[in-house]
Amino acid sequence: MTQDELKDAVAAAAIKEVRPMLGKDIVIGIGTGSTANFFIDRLAELRSDFRGAVASSEASAQRLKGHGIDVFELNEVGTMPVYIDGADEVNAHLHMIKGGGAALTREKIVAACCKTFICIADASKRVEQLGDFPLPIEVIPMARSYVARELVKLGADPVYRQGVVTDNGNQILDCYEFMIDDPVAMEARLNAIVGVVTNGLFAARPADVLLLGAEDGVSRHL
Ligand code: A5P
Repeated sequence: MTQDELKDAVAAAAIKEVRPMLGKDIVIGIGTGSTANFFIDRLAELRSDFRGAVASSEASAQRLKGHGIDVFELNEVGTMPVYIDGADEVNAHLHMIKGGGAALTREKIVAACCKTFICIADASKRVEQLGDFPLPIEVIPMARSYVARELVKLGADPVYRQGVVTDNGNQILDCYEFMIDDPVAMEARLNAIVGVVTNGLFAARPADVLLLGAEDGVSRHL
């Protein structure tokens, strides 16, 4: 199977998980990235079964709207039953690195407003220790150099993601050479640096369910 076929297989499995949660008043949270896009495309078949979605990026909002799915502002809705999104890395505790697509801040906010976080990923994303994938940090532009110096003190090799402006008007530093021993502690430590908007560790609030696509099928992990 190709990687895209694996992503579509986990998207199909996620549709089965989400379908019983839908209803005419239900709004769901939708993530960002190529795996989330497969889910959005499959969700189109169910568009008359639920009210709509909150998207974690402008790109996902446009894709949802393209399928005729109503998109709501987060402030218009209350707690949602489920958030579905991909990951760049995920460990056995369902801690994740996210933000390869620069949508980490809105992803973390929308996920916080959802009862269940379903992570959908192909098997290449499953790791023993987080950190091979460079950890993205969204920063206020004027703080970029200061935050980079603080990240060096923590042992990271931060690289400015040139030409990328987030949906929030901010910039991204990607932390290379930064293996994470304690994701929960490091998430809090990074958030304490002045000028950091969000870091791409999703550990304080990990996924609740991981659907992992491999050659021998989709496995479900709690
Ligand atoms: C977007 O900012 C990311 O957090 C994505 O969820 C993550 O990069 C996974 O993307 P893919 O599904 O494209 O691998």
